[in-house]
Amino acid sequence: MMLKDKKIILGITGGIAAYKSCEIIRRLKKLGADVLVVMTENAKKFITPLTLETLSENEVVTEMFPERRFVGVRHVDLAGWVDLILIAPATANVVGKIRSGIADDILTTIVISSKAPVLIAPAMNVNMYENPIFQENLSYLEKLGYRFVEPEVGELASGIVGKGRLAEPETIVAEAVKLLTRKKDLEGKSILITASRTEEPLDPVRYLSNRSSGKMGYAIACEAYLRGAKVTLISGPSNLPPPLGLNFIQVKTAKEMLGAVRSAFRKADALIMAAAVSDFSVSVISKDKIKKGEEKILLQLKPTVDILKEMSKRKKDKVLVGFSLETEDEIKNAKKKMAEKNLDLIVVNNPDVPGAGFEVDTNQVTLIDKRGRAEKLPLLSKKEVASKILDKVSLLLRKKR
Ligand SMILES: Cc1cc2nc3c(=O)[nH]c(=O)nc-3n(C[C@H](O)[C@H](O)[C@H](O)COP(=O)(O)O)c2cc1C
Repeated sequence: MMLKDKKIILGITGGIAAYKSCEIIRRLKKLGADVLVVMTENAKKFITPLTLETLSENEVVTEMFPERRFVGVRHVDLAGWVDLILIAPATANVVGKIRSGIADDILTTIVISSKAPVLIAPAMNVNMYENPIFQENLSYLEKLGYRFVEPEVGELASGIVGKGRLAEPETIVAEAVKLLTRKKDLEGKSILITASRTEEPLDPVRYLSNRSSGKMGYAIACEAYLRGAKVTLISGPSNLPPPLGLNFIQVKTAKEMLGAVRSAFRKADALIMAAAVSDFSVSVISKDKIKKGEEKILLQLKPTVDILKEMSKRKKDKVLVGFSLETEDEIKNAKKKMAEKNLDLIVVNNPDVPGAGFEVDTNQVTLIDKRGRAEKLPLLSKKEVASKILDKVSLLLRKKR
């Protein structure tokens, strides 16, 4: 009974795979979950509420404004009651609506009103699945912290073979179990995370920067939040949307990042500096746009304040985690950096490994602890790398207690 006392809303939408939700209910119930089905009007064309009511042993919620009035505000009550919202199957339509913040039926209104994790299992025709608008919606929601169960490749209802078939009920339920039983080992801890790059202005239109996208830092922030931490994410410019549920602070320059870290550091139990902060800023920022001409231009740079080094002076019992990106002698240099900044853990990136480093969704890192022990991780998704880093941070925080 792994899901005993867990409250799940199973959202069912108008796709041909709606019949598979019966099997999902059956499996969730077998694990002890309390399952409440919320279905869209269109889902009722594919499967009857009676079947779902019988299997879930609960009333099936279908209407925003039922004739028999519910006392109270039902969507708000349900949004607060639930431990997990699972939408399976999810149509292209519902994914688009959630991404756009549309709340025009009871299911989407519960989703927008709830702080519970949302797990979405899309199912649709291959052309719908590959449609760039749908793909963009999916990736946007994923970056906000919504979870997805990838559909499978197989024969679709239309007879075409392609990607879009609902994942097996067994796989969907396994993902739900993973989310519901995940560790809450960072509960009560305040974690300060920096991410992305900084931009150092040269003149009103140009700046000096680097290629960091923020994907690694944002992944750590999302994972830490899901593990119960109170998260402050200080981010330089990034194309990623701010993840849900966090205290998000936007900065631009290294100086601004230093200021933001300084103010948030006192209340933090751990600082994870995943941002690629510029090591230099321009000595004199031109008030006007620097004109193009025949002559060479000499840019004078000055070093920026090393944020981690600065914070290490007021470290006390806080956990400090640094990132290191070296193109040569990476382990030796990382150990030196670690000693200089009194770090508890350093994450060494190697940008030369295919699939690692900036802009991509995967990373290959080596974790080095204070005693110099190095653990080289395989190429993993940034989400998985984030989880490994937080395992170490969690252990370090427990030791300091
Ligand atoms: C026979 C049939 C099968 C459909 N199957 C799917 C599907 O598998 N996935 C999907 O995204 N839309 C599918 N649609 C289209 C949706 O039903 C349509 O976009 C609808 O507006 C979805 O409403 P809902 O998201 O509110 O449930 C199907 C439509 C029909 C008529």
